[in-house]
Amino acid sequence: MVDPDASEWLKKQQRASRKTRLIVSTAGILVIAAVLAGVIYTLIHKGTTGGAVGSSDNGNDGNNAGKGANIPSNPDGPYYTNDGKPVSLSITPDPRLHKSFYGVNYGPILALYPWCTNTLGDTIEDLKILSQLTNRLRLYGMDCNMANYTLLAIELLKLNMTVVPTIWVDGNETTYTRQYNDFFNNLDQHGISRIEGVSVGNEALFRKQVTPSDLYSRIADVKSKIQAKYPNSKIPVFTSDIGSNVDQAFIAGTDVVFANVHPYFGGVPVSTGANWTFEFFHNFDSGPAAAAGKPAVISEIGWPTNGASDNASIASVDNLQTFLDTYVCVANQKQIKYYYFESFDTPWKAAYFTTLEGSWGLFNSDRSFKPNIQLPNCQVTAGGITSM
Ligand SMILES: *[C@@H]1O[C@H](CO)[C@@H](O)[C@H](O)[C@H]1NC(C)=O
Ligand SMILES: *[C@@H]1O[C@H](CO)[C@@H](O)[C@H](O)[C@H]1NC(C)=O
Ligand SMILES: *[C@@H]1O[C@H](CO)[C@@H](O)[C@H](O)[C@H]1NC(C)=O
Ligand SMILES: *[C@@H]1O[C@H](CO)[C@@H](O)[C@H](O)[C@H]1NC(C)=O
Ligand SMILES: *[C@@H]1O[C@H](CO)[C@@H](O)[C@H](O)[C@H]1NC(C)=O
Repeated sequence: MVDPDASEWLKKQQRASRKTRLIVSTAGILVIAAVLAGVIYTLIHKGTTGGAVGSSDNGNDGNNAGKGANIPSNPDGPYYTNDGKPVSLSITPDPRLHKSFYGVNYGPILALYPWCTNTLGDTIEDLKILSQLTNRLRLYGMDCNMANYTLLAIELLKLNMTVVPTIWVDGNETTYTRQYNDFFNNLDQHGISRIEGVSVGNEALFRKQVTPSDLYSRIADVKSKIQAKYPNSKIPVFTSDIGSNVDQAFIAGTDVVFANVHPYFGGVPVSTGANWTFEFFHNFDSGPAAAAGKPAVISEIGWPTNGASDNASIASVDNLQTFLDTYVCVANQKQIKYYYFESFDTPWKAAYFTTLEGSWGLFNSDRSFKPNIQLPNCQVTAGGITSM
């Protein structure tokens, strides 16, 4: 426990730092896409080879959405990556990978609406790796078949994995309706057995793109629609937001408190990052949630390897290693539930926002290991996200 003054300081510190932070999902990009369409179009084309990219010349053809551009994503195969490499369904166990993570955040790197140059094959390749780290994935939106391909890949690879899909909330009703409908289409296709929970938005309160009461009624609506379709289902519905935004209304409005907790934006040195996280999460999130009888999960936790420092927080591969060494197995031992942020470096965020935003991956964007990174090796024993 920290004393109340220190808590206040932590809270302000996180607030202040996060003000400069512009994290959006691949769906949120739409809002400002008009301004920067050229940048993104170039990025997508640079990141892929010749004919593998979408045929639309202006890069802005909504009709390509969800079709994996020119590369067909036939659920029955054959499967290809976005640059045309064949993808097999066999998994080669990598001795450097360990199932030490409660959950991992997964944003397929080419799932950028409306371009959607990602393929089912890309997601299959991603999950061959991620399934050796965790049994749980959290996604940032529905666009570009993000949830559909993830669920298909889980089915095709016969993995024991669950997914937390996110219906993205950015204040645009068109975006919301599209993602909402897509979510329910996915339930129709894939059923609910692999849905660990549903997030309605991520940091939408932090970005002030929705009022709290509007967000909580969306959560209630999604929940009642799920229950109407599957009367016996107990799928929790919630939102995720920065850990300092959790108040009584937030706790009341969600089934599970999902809080993004970032020691990096707390401006603390990596040596104390893990402890800072445990204290912060306990004081602002899991403690208040438990007092109201609700479970809490850290929806984002991680450390970047490149980009501008934030006071005493320094981005580097060495510091990622220190953070992994000091956080993961201790969190597992404490039965803390968390989704590590994040799977792969994301070139589009680096180009669109800052190097820092694009550099939170455990792996490089081409799925290779970052130099000298050793992944922790310990067991996860905490139960599902609704267990207390
Ligand atoms: C599947 O994953 C869950 C959650 O991690 C775990 O409790 C269960 O034991 C796993 N089942 C198998 C057959 O590995
Ligand atoms: C909302 O999103 C749609 C496309 O999804 C776009 O056409 C429209 O301009 C957006 N509206 C606003 C107000 O930004
Ligand atoms: C999922 O993707 C497959 C392959 O592209 C497609 O056939 C199917 O209609 C999609 N399902 C949903 C719910 O979008
Ligand atoms: C983290 O907290 C634990 C328990 O309070 C303590 O033993 C340890 O020294 C702390 N580590 C650091 C680096 O502050
Ligand atoms: C920077 O971090 C140090 C501790 O690491 C703290 O004492 C100081 O107040 C912080 N400065 C700012 C501007 O937050």
